[in-house]
Amino acid sequence: MSTTPVKVTVTGAAGQIGYALLFRIASGALLGPDTPVALRLLEIPQGVKAAEGTAMELVDCAFPLISSIDIFDDPKAAFDGANVGLLVGARPRTAGMERADLLSANGGIFGPQGAAINEGAASDIRVLVVGNPANTNALIAASSAPDVPSSRFTAMTRLDQNRALGQLSQKTGVPVSEIKKVTIWGNHSASQYPDIFHAEVAGKPAAEVINDQAWLENDFIPTVAKRGAAIIEARGASSAASAASAAIDHVHDWVLGTPAGDWTSAAIPSDGSYGVPEGLISSFPVTSEGGEWKIVQGLEISEFSRGRIDASVAELGEEREAVKALGLL
Ligand code: NAD
Ligand code: LMR
Repeated sequence: MSTTPVKVTVTGAAGQIGYALLFRIASGALLGPDTPVALRLLEIPQGVKAAEGTAMELVDCAFPLISSIDIFDDPKAAFDGANVGLLVGARPRTAGMERADLLSANGGIFGPQGAAINEGAASDIRVLVVGNPANTNALIAASSAPDVPSSRFTAMTRLDQNRALGQLSQKTGVPVSEIKKVTIWGNHSASQYPDIFHAEVAGKPAAEVINDQAWLENDFIPTVAKRGAAIIEARGASSAASAASAAIDHVHDWVLGTPAGDWTSAAIPSDGSYGVPEGLISSFPVTSEGGEWKIVQGLEISEFSRGRIDASVAELGEEREAVKALGLL
């Protein structure tokens, strides 16, 4: 076992995703069974007491990998020396709130958190933004951290990826372990494009196995893209355990690498690949090696896919313009 604990900062620690996430991190699912973790929980002052309760339960689990648990209501203290930042806490949209109000409220959270990361995080800091609107919140945090490489700021579309795998598995009867090379493009929103045109199901092209364009267009794509809303409708609260599980998958693969012969999806700063304007934090097919995401290159993009990708990327461009206009970038 390595001896230096990895400092993992989780924001929104007392929320429902936080509750599902912290125990998985503590069990070793995030960084592997040999890496001790120092947990740093960030909450707003009103959330600190509940975070203390969660910390008590973490102590009561006697996880061998946990070296310490600290609770903060100050981002600077919470991110001091952090190696991994899971930015979960965000301002949810409430009744009567305009889009600009939501972006502005989240700017007030992700701007200062980005600045705190810039000031005090470890040089290897890796950030995953989960709190919505995740892609644009990640952009705000990155732009508040000019000394940290922008490639260290990512947003979560792994939940969408996992949802796509789940739907494909149910349709074909093939276990998810035998479904590969699915891609989520664009924004973590209903405009996202879950793409199976390069996917393989039990070693065969997915499009050939499924051979049902109507199902793809009228069932698969909307089901995956609107799954978040369907969960809210069914549960009366947004996805929590599945979101936490996807956050674990994202950071695990980023740090420890993606399996050979497959790729995953993550929203990372665009380098202009596939016509996505540079700097937008957009979801791509990615692999990770040596702790760096790389966009899978050279995929043929059909006209159908092009239209869907462009629509979601256009939405990201509009969000970027909106936060620019609010002075948040
Ligand atoms: P929640 O309301 O249960 O918890 C959020 C927590 O964040 C609360 O405890 C709150 O006190 C805390 N918080 C708010 N502002 C904070 C700040 N400035 N610093 C630290 N903590 C702060 O919400 P949840 O269900 O855990 O969801 C969290 C976010 O994740 C939401 O924005 C949700 O929309 C988003 N989400 C994203 C995905 C995805 O795939 N990207 C999936 C599911 C949910
Ligand atoms: C999800 O995809 O489950 C969430 O992003 C939904 C939401 O709005 O919190």
